[in-house]
Amino acid sequence: MSELQRPRVAIVGGTGAEGFGLALRLTRAGARVLIGSREAGKAEAAAARAPGAEGRANSDAVREAEIVVLTVPLAAQIEILKSVRESFRPGAILVDTTVPLEAALGGRASRTVSLWAGSAAQRAAQQVPDGVAVVAAFHSLSARSLADVDRPVDTDILICGDSASAKAAVRRLVEMLPGARAIDAGPLENARLLENVAALLIALNVGHRSSRAGLRITGLDPERAWTGR
Ligand SMILES: NC(=O)c1ccc[n+]([C@@H]2O[C@H](COP(=O)([O-])OP(=O)(O)OC[C@H]3O[C@@H](n4cnc5c(N)ncnc54)[C@H](OP(=O)(O)O)[C@@H]3O)[C@@H](O)[C@H]2O)c1
Repeated sequence: MSELQRPRVAIVGGTGAEGFGLALRLTRAGARVLIGSREAGKAEAAAARAPGAEGRANSDAVREAEIVVLTVPLAAQIEILKSVRESFRPGAILVDTTVPLEAALGGRASRTVSLWAGSAAQRAAQQVPDGVAVVAAFHSLSARSLADVDRPVDTDILICGDSASAKAAVRRLVEMLPGARAIDAGPLENARLLENVAALLIALNVGHRSSRAGLRITGLDPERAWTGR
């Protein structure tokens, strides 16, 4: 991959389990990764454990990136998006990974809560500036699988969004992860379905004493773009 083709990816909340796992994997695969944190020093310390990645305060990471991946808990999602809103580059893509778990309200991690916007990803879309496309992705990719960097991740990753070009960019990002396959799951309004599947995977992990449950879709060509409604 040439220097110009290497995507610049900011991971807001990249010090956490999911974000750091993505940072490790994507850096290894050749992406230029900026780990974001509310504290620049914490981001730098995380980047020191992911050779090739760099650490930044969240808003500085967003300012430098073409693709911004949001990996913060539901309870922090809006506050964090407000804090970086002014930093998006024109035409940037926001990838929302948030699963609206009842755990955010002291309930179970295997249950979701319903949000007025329809899904966490649609809620994110209400917070970004015009011209920033939101794609929902990575819900089926567990932090545990990401951390095991010597093993392929072994999951399909369903992606939803209203911009075909943004989904194509996220598909290329997914395909940088060994063992992951991207599947176009339609418009952003389908994000609620992806978010609920993540809760199902958590329930399966609990029920089967695992932390690696993933997802495989059969019976369709994963290379095809969504053409229905
Ligand atoms: N874990 C998984 O297997 C998995 C799988 C799929 C999707 N997801 C989604 O990915 C997101 C992150 O999950 P995670 O397990 O990585 O979460 P986490 O480790 O608890 O938190 C991720 C990061 O969010 C930042 N953050 C910002 N505001 C925060 C606040 N008020 N309280 C706590 N942390 C805050 C923290 O970074 P700083 O302190 O550095 O700012 C923290 O390191 C969630 O929305 C989750 O649904 C997770």
